[in-house]
Amino acid sequence: MPIIAPSLLAADFLNLEQACRLVNESAAEWLHIDIMDGRFVPNISFGQPVLEAVQKVVTKTLDVHLMIEEPERYAEDFAKLGANYLTVHFEACRHLHRNVQQIKALGMKAGVALNPHTPVHLLEDILPDLDMVLVMSVNPGFGGQKFIPHSLEKIAALRRMINDNGLSTLIEVDGGVTTGNAAQLVAAGVDVLVAGSSVFRAADPMAAIDALKKA
Ligand code: DX5
Ligand code: ZN
Repeated sequence: MPIIAPSLLAADFLNLEQACRLVNESAAEWLHIDIMDGRFVPNISFGQPVLEAVQKVVTKTLDVHLMIEEPERYAEDFAKLGANYLTVHFEACRHLHRNVQQIKALGMKAGVALNPHTPVHLLEDILPDLDMVLVMSVNPGFGGQKFIPHSLEKIAALRRMINDNGLSTLIEVDGGVTTGNAAQLVAAGVDVLVAGSSVFRAADPMAAIDALKKA
């Protein structure tokens, strides 16, 4: 069964506490936090002060996805705020190996995210150092976008790379995940399903999480 990581980006920002408590009481193991800087991606979401507030009520694993330039400037902040997984973008890191080592030295699990245009084979030399690879199945920056079908082939190729090398790196998929494509994603090799709109914009978010879990 996949790990479910509801994305707070799609929650009602007037009621973030309620959204966090819903995730606490749900079958979802993680909470996904999208940090955007308006530079790496065209949109700005929220930053440390919001995470500082929500982490006080969250009991689940905090999965922080940095869609920002120069993530090395903020890694320590996110470690102090209780991030369990910290994911940086391949396209934002000139010295990715250094970024990954920094995240681990701060006591967090290290993830690397790939934009839709970035081939999985570019991770060949860094894969053994990673705890997780996040495959973006939409262009990062906004919730509620349509799933890019080619992501399935990338996930399958990444699953082969991980298995062939005897690694235990997790594969996370993010963007346009719904109950309609979740089973296919899990069959292709996904471990963690991020879901924003399909959870928080559903009539019954709890039931949506249960349905994704059964994928
Ligand atoms: C997009 C973010 C996603 C977003 C997913 O840039 O990284 O985590 O919240 O939203 P949905 O599930 O609505 O596509
Ligand atoms: Zn995300």
